[in-house]
Amino acid sequence: MVEISASILGAKEEESAKIFYNLEVAKIDYFHIDVMDGKFVENNTVEKMNKFSNILKQITTLPLDVHLMVEDIETYVKLYSTFEPNIITFHFEACKDKQEVFKMIDLVKSSNIKVGIAISPKTEVREIYEFLPYINTILVMTVEPGKGGQPLIPETLRKIKILKEYLTQNNLDTYIEADGGINLETIEDIKDVGVDIAVVGNGILKTDNYKETVKKLKI
Ligand code: DX5
Ligand code: ZN
Repeated sequence: MVEISASILGAKEEESAKIFYNLEVAKIDYFHIDVMDGKFVENNTVEKMNKFSNILKQITTLPLDVHLMVEDIETYVKLYSTFEPNIITFHFEACKDKQEVFKMIDLVKSSNIKVGIAISPKTEVREIYEFLPYINTILVMTVEPGKGGQPLIPETLRKIKILKEYLTQNNLDTYIEADGGINLETIEDIKDVGVDIAVVGNGILKTDNYKETVKKLKI
């Protein structure tokens, strides 16, 4: 069964506590925190995500799934470690070389937090094969990182399929997470290619009944 990580990027600040409560009641599995620094991607969500993480730590025990879309990974790993998330994922494209990737993996792990690597649509899965034995999750972006509400890029499904086959062949238990443009229409394709965790933002937030939506997404 696919787990649902709810992206709260699109939540309005004044309604946030109520939205978070309703998401928890709807039985999502994680809160997905999209941290954007205005450099790796154009948008800057640092302040908003800090506020949201503080609220979440007060009102829920559900795990936080932090997705860093930032250039300076080290600074944000240190900042977000304080919220004791379940997992921190950083972008492969933000690292200058292989050594930096391994350094960031170690940094996250040293805080007793699970670690994930995210790849943008243009990055091929084979580029991250060597890191798979050392990480918990590989997040395949199904849209270009930077904003919510974009349509899923079908080509990214092919990548997930290749990745899934590689993991099976090599006896690796790394989780596959997919992020962007996932909703009730695209969830079947996501499940078909073997995704373990689906990030869903607008696909839940723009629906009237979160409970019904999450239930249908998980079936
Ligand atoms: C995009 C973010 C996603 C996004 C998901 O850069 O990483 O998490 O907010 O939102 P939807 O589900 O609306 O595409
Ligand atoms: Zn995300």
